[in-house]
Amino acid sequence: MQSLTVLGATGSIGASTLDVVARHPDRYRVFALSGHRRVDELARLCVRFTPRYAVATGEGGAARLRELLREAGSRTEVLDGESALAEICAHDETDTVMAAIVGAAGLAPTLAAARRGKRILLANKEALVMAGHVFVSACREAGAVVLPIDSEHNAVFQCLPPAAQADARALDAGGVRRLLLTASGGPFRERALDDMHAVTPDEACAHPNWSMGRKISVDSATMMNKGLELIEASILFDVPEDRIEIVVHPQSVIHSMVEYLDGSVLAQLGNPDMRTPIAHALAYPQRIASGVGVLDLPRVGRLDFESPDPRRFPCLRLAREALRAGGGAPCVLNAANEIAVEAFFEGRVRFTGIAQVVERVLGELPAPGAPGDVAQVLDLDAQARAHARAALERIPA
Ligand SMILES: NC(=O)c1ccc[n+]([C@@H]2O[C@H](COP(=O)([O-])OP(=O)(O)OC[C@H]3O[C@@H](n4cnc5c(N)ncnc54)[C@H](OP(=O)(O)O)[C@@H]3O)[C@@H](O)[C@H]2O)c1
Repeated sequence: MQSLTVLGATGSIGASTLDVVARHPDRYRVFALSGHRRVDELARLCVRFTPRYAVATGEGGAARLRELLREAGSRTEVLDGESALAEICAHDETDTVMAAIVGAAGLAPTLAAARRGKRILLANKEALVMAGHVFVSACREAGAVVLPIDSEHNAVFQCLPPAAQADARALDAGGVRRLLLTASGGPFRERALDDMHAVTPDEACAHPNWSMGRKISVDSATMMNKGLELIEASILFDVPEDRIEIVVHPQSVIHSMVEYLDGSVLAQLGNPDMRTPIAHALAYPQRIASGVGVLDLPRVGRLDFESPDPRRFPCLRLAREALRAGGGAPCVLNAANEIAVEAFFEGRVRFTGIAQVVERVLGELPAPGAPGDVAQVLDLDAQARAHARAALERIPA
């Protein structure tokens, strides 16, 4: 019986995780759940999955959750504040943590899980991009196992030789030449370039293949998501930037590939449904049913590929440059992007302004050294956010 903590239980990945868990009551027990603003949904999940603890980090959330749970007769104990997130991850009675908070807020609890040597199912790519080597060192020191949830990284993981699954440092010995990350191209792959500035948040969130939270949906539309994934892949699999290629594949059936020295290319295919990588990571090295339907290849019909258009997707170039620059540049890129996307939702910057904000901030903080600990990560993150807020003042809305 695995004892599971789900950070970000009220989100899209949280819902898919609990859907898989509910199919296997003999294998998984929910130890703790967290949410931020959607307190009613968190209360409903607590009644259904009876966790020992629940954390609602949004303002006034804990008091409201306590009230709802009291009314429902639930015995789940509500913990207060952001530090409670780290507490439910590091607790002796949980062995597996699904890290599915969106953005930088997920860093501290995910690191707490790493330091206690937990099995981490990592969806929160922003935390890894911010803290890269701090996070990897914490995992190595404490013996934490990281299983990627992003469908691309999960696909790469599935296509790696077993020794490299256990330790990414064995990739070269296993004959791996390159990683090929696929990208759907998002909703604007074919939209007229001179019309991109007029994109609205609702259009940007209408992804053609995947149903996801709003921030990652906008990142997919700008392809910053693929840029963050490029950095995530480089850190997780210990592969330099020039050995990771991005291939646009509009059907989202091949989730990514691994190319070997002998010319073989191994791919992982499936319907675009996050329950597949979640079920894979939950059960690894075994396999369990996920609820995802069979892949009907005749119905899919064809698989197309193309290179990403650099004029349409400048964020991809910015992410590559940040990865090449190394040090704290990926942290700066991520922070500037989070602020720019927030501003886009609030109508303070245009869709095309997101890349402009990120480019300016990277230009203003060109070569920050690699943060050596969490305090330095948070300090650099705060600096980059301040630069991004200032940049927003200078970019027309
Ligand atoms: N969705 C996908 O298909 C997918 C695929 C690959 C990777 N990912 C990654 O998985 C992560 C989650 O994505 P998602 O699509 O599930 O996002 P989402 O639907 O927006 O859910 C985000 C979760 O984080 C919580 N949260 C938001 N702000 C928080 C804060 N300041 N402190 C604590 N918790 C906070 C939310 O709580 P409330 O909702 O209660 O406010 C919610 O539970 C992201 O890093 C994303 O890049 C997602």
